[in-house]
Amino acid sequence: MADFLPFNTTCDFTTGVLNPPGNLISRYLADMQGVFHDNDAYVAMMKENPKIYEFYNVIIPEEEGHLQHCTSIVYPGKVGNEYFMTKGHYHAIPGTAEIYICFRGRGKLVMQTVKGDFKVLDMYPGSISYIPPFWAHRTINVGSEPLVFFGVYRGDAGHNYGTIEEKGFYKLVIERNNIPTIIDNPLYGR
Ligand code: F6R
Ligand code: ZN
Repeated sequence: MADFLPFNTTCDFTTGVLNPPGNLISRYLADMQGVFHDNDAYVAMMKENPKIYEFYNVIIPEEEGHLQHCTSIVYPGKVGNEYFMTKGHYHAIPGTAEIYICFRGRGKLVMQTVKGDFKVLDMYPGSISYIPPFWAHRTINVGSEPLVFFGVYRGDAGHNYGTIEEKGFYKLVIERNNIPTIIDNPLYGR
């Protein structure tokens, strides 16, 4: 690891774009079947298939002593009354934490554990959110501009999407009377 040389990456705080871009992953609505609770709204919106979010990963070895770091951009919009959001995941090594620093926009950071704990934090420019070990995490754009944030986590943490894909999150964030509102997920476990 001592052979690995220090380096800079440059981040545009407004767009979240990294230079060099590293590994860019874009997720469109078509990549998120079964994620949003209103399937009729999902099907109707598939005519446009909008980009929901993307994230730029700096290329770092997947080893314990390193730190993965990345920027994410969640675009504004809704599927029915549910805001655009990330898929969400546990880490493949579940006891690894993560820090998110928000640069732009308004978001909700939804977190849960397999034991049944649930927590939501606000994201706003300057917010530094600590995602402890064992907490699944998803970000939701509840504003009208892109939600841009930086994340950093252990080099070998990896990602487990399967648990969330199978069961979902315990709760959803929907718009009700123009206000982001947390409700029980009617589809949880189905
Ligand atoms: C990395 C992390 C973020 C997310 C990104 C996209 O551990 O939490 O960089 O990977 O915000 O969300 P997902 O990975 O849930 O599609
Ligand atoms: Zn993560």
